[in-house]
Amino acid sequence: MADTVKKLALSRDLDDGELSALIAADVHDEELRVEADKKRREVYGDAVFIRGLIEFTNYCKNDCYYCGIRHGNKKAERFRLSPDEILACCDEGYPLGFRTFVLQGGEDPFFDDNTLCTIVSAIRNRYPDCAVTLSVGERSHGSYLELFRAGAERYLLRHETADPVHYGKLHPAVMSAENRKKCLFDLKEIGYQVGSGFMVGTPYQTVGNIVSDLRFLQELDPDMIGIGPFVTHSETPFAGFESGSAELTLRLLSILRLMFPHALIPATTSLGTVSPTGREDGLRSGANVVMPNLSPVRVRNKYLLYDGKICTGEESAQCVACLDARVRSAGYRIAVDRGDVRKDGAPK
Ligand code: SAM
Ligand code: FES
Repeated sequence: MADTVKKLALSRDLDDGELSALIAADVHDEELRVEADKKRREVYGDAVFIRGLIEFTNYCKNDCYYCGIRHGNKKAERFRLSPDEILACCDEGYPLGFRTFVLQGGEDPFFDDNTLCTIVSAIRNRYPDCAVTLSVGERSHGSYLELFRAGAERYLLRHETADPVHYGKLHPAVMSAENRKKCLFDLKEIGYQVGSGFMVGTPYQTVGNIVSDLRFLQELDPDMIGIGPFVTHSETPFAGFESGSAELTLRLLSILRLMFPHALIPATTSLGTVSPTGREDGLRSGANVVMPNLSPVRVRNKYLLYDGKICTGEESAQCVACLDARVRSAGYRIAVDRGDVRKDGAPK
């Protein structure tokens, strides 16, 4: 198996059987971690990129079985930020060093193309040196195009699971893996830097499903890859399922770094939720992005995708200070720049 890790580091690929064996075993985690860290330093040095996360609406028309802000959760207290409130988050983030703002929300029809385009262009006008990333789910090709023209350059849309049968176990029948994938290829074709990914340890997930996820990512070749453990939410149909493990998430982060050396890969909040050292461990295992929360404190505890979500009480500045300390303690440094993907692989 040690040879398998070396082979993955050298060739960036393995056959399905080798990949499955690597995913299923824990004995080579340390070797995987060391190789992943080596690769990440070759491409990105010790830089960790920060993205200011603005959770601007928790209204959602979808009913994903795992998600705490699903339409069917009548106990969720709903909120929407106004355009001015969103801009105020950017005003707070810019002096803290943010050069990327990520607007994330449920699929909220209130934010139609006009409304969202106005917000995107207002941010780009005020902060021309910053990138705007959207993460607002599945929309039409035309909608993605308008938003791109308004100045959004990046889009995060996890494929969640590449296997249509597994997808059907996580979502109602009106949603499909096929449409999710179509959206991702539309975004790419338009010219966005695209991020995809999946949850680790979702109900019914098999090792074979994870191999399919990696194969789909190879086909898509995204610039950003977000993975994090599934974390249980008590007011969803998956309330009775256990959360995914930090251990498997870290192993997969290392495998992803070796398969996709240039990818921007976050150490996610969900990883920090299932383990107190999750985000530091994530950085040591190959991740190179952190996404501190810039949302106003009054809405933080309403954007609850899962139980026990961390960072819901802190002011933005506290969130950044805490993450800065964590990044340093893990042996890296926060970079104040837009943090674009380095396809040429040249270290800074
Ligand atoms: N509506 C947009 C979308 O569908 O991409 C963005 C918001 S959605 C809440 C962002 C991500 O949260 C999803 O892609 C999913 O992977 C993750 N997520 C949702 N529920 C989760 C849970 N219970 N545990 C961990 N991650 C979860
Ligand atoms: Fe829509 Fe989770 S179900 S954001």
